[in-house]
Amino acid sequence: MTHATTTPRVALVTGTASGIGEAVVRQFRELGHQVLAVDFNEQAREKADAVGAAFHQADLSDGAACRGAVDEALQRFGRVDILVNNAGIQHVSPIETFPEAKWRQIVDLMLTAPFLLSQACWPSMRDNGWGRIVNIASVHAQVASPGKAAYISAKHGLIGLTKTAALEGGEQGITANAICPAYVKTPLVDNQIADQAKLHGMAEQEVVEQVMLKNAAVKRLIQPEEVAALVAYLASDAAGAVTGASWNIDLGWTAQ
Ligand SMILES: NC(=O)c1ccc[n+]([C@@H]2O[C@H](COP(=O)([O-])OP(=O)(O)OC[C@H]3O[C@@H](n4cnc5c(N)ncnc54)[C@H](O)[C@@H]3O)[C@@H](O)[C@H]2O)c1
Repeated sequence: MTHATTTPRVALVTGTASGIGEAVVRQFRELGHQVLAVDFNEQAREKADAVGAAFHQADLSDGAACRGAVDEALQRFGRVDILVNNAGIQHVSPIETFPEAKWRQIVDLMLTAPFLLSQACWPSMRDNGWGRIVNIASVHAQVASPGKAAYISAKHGLIGLTKTAALEGGEQGITANAICPAYVKTPLVDNQIADQAKLHGMAEQEVVEQVMLKNAAVKRLIQPEEVAALVAYLASDAAGAVTGASWNIDLGWTAQ
């Protein structure tokens, strides 16, 4: 797909070993952006190498590691223009038995890390008068489902962070937007399909059709490249007037 700008930028993308993050890195490289791919999984190094992106290993549930990732980007490229907060995990359990450690891990990775990474990238974006923050939220930033308290709370919080960053960045050339996908065909969802099939004693195809696509108007899973295309638009010059918004790619889920 083509975009109104091809200005080469420097991007930091988190959670790049698979799924949406991997597709975003690929898309950015096709557009000519320099990319620092950040992940705790070493497999992301090979994926980054394959498309000419740089790799930095970091566990982003740790605050110092978040700041270290941005320092690495600044040392390598001298600036950060685009930040894509994408790294995420899931844990399914009712509130009554939800482990505190899992809650903290999810909130640290999916809400605190986007805050710390935005904070650390801010001076570079402000000084250059141009910045794009794209937060990968979820349809679960708009609606809830049982069993996913930490994930849903972190994603709802991420919308609040996005709106605040948009207001603070408006005069500085910095935009912030969130993307809210329904189920995307990635390892994160493949694992959920397998778990739910076991839990409900259903075939995996039945889980997809009867559980995951129950509220969908378009009855299929989303491809990671479809999310990456919207990330590329929101990170482009063309999207300079678009900020503080939540962009649903949810197969029509929240239309009802
Ligand atoms: N797949 C979906 O259906 C879907 C739907 C809505 C939103 N999302 C969101 O999209 C984002 C990407 O999800 P995905 O489906 O591509 O998942 P994925 O499991 O394919 O990728 C997640 C990435 O995050 C990395 N990661 C996990 N913990 C980390 C840590 N502590 N430090 C650094 N990296 C870490 C993993 O190694 C992996 O590369 C997540 O924020 C997820 O919540 C996914």
